[in-house]
Amino acid sequence: MKFFIDTANLAQIKEANELGILDGVTTNPSLMAKEGIKGQEAIMNHYKTICEMVDGDISAEVISTDFDGIIAEGKKLAAIHPNIIVKVPMIKEGIKAIKWFTDNGIKTNCTLVFSAGQAILAAKAGATYLSPFIGRIDDSSWDGVELIAQISQIYSIQGFKTQILAASIRNALHIVRCAEAGADVCTCPLDSILGLLKHPLTDIGLAKFLEDAKKTA
Ligand code: G3P
Repeated sequence: MKFFIDTANLAQIKEANELGILDGVTTNPSLMAKEGIKGQEAIMNHYKTICEMVDGDISAEVISTDFDGIIAEGKKLAAIHPNIIVKVPMIKEGIKAIKWFTDNGIKTNCTLVFSAGQAILAAKAGATYLSPFIGRIDDSSWDGVELIAQISQIYSIQGFKTQILAASIRNALHIVRCAEAGADVCTCPLDSILGLLKHPLTDIGLAKFLEDAKKTA
């Protein structure tokens, strides 16, 4: 399973990248706004900086909702760097655009996915990645990880090549459960990635080893 970090914060991207396990970055307009990135030029420059920091797939989201707008925006984003993945919303015009990008050699990430039906459509259109938002599904009393398992089963039975990118991850357990459920990628906040490190017995065990090491010094 690949690990992406879900942020536009450069310090957090750097910290995750330094772990040596980072395979890419996902962003969205909310994450860009959170970092105070304003204006098209600043946004494009920010994507370029991220691409220069991380050697992996970097999702950059379009904000147009009509076919022509999505195509024009996606072409500009894709021109920033070969690792850019054009992130397109799961809407009718988005599906048409994903098919166009697929036919024209531009990789895509279909975002805002909440159902297996949407997952089938995106795969038919040739999306490179599919982003089900599992935390937001959990927030509405459904099981987000169950959706990952369902899509994984469908893609496997049907031979779809689209990679399942579990998004809206809220904690380390989500990552573990998504790995079990067949996600190809988890895009996570830094805290959730670091949460995987934690176990009290590791801390207790290490303290004891270090204490005993003093006896052998
Ligand atoms: O990148 C999209 C997704 O991960 C959003 O997460 O926490 O806003 O539901 P969240």
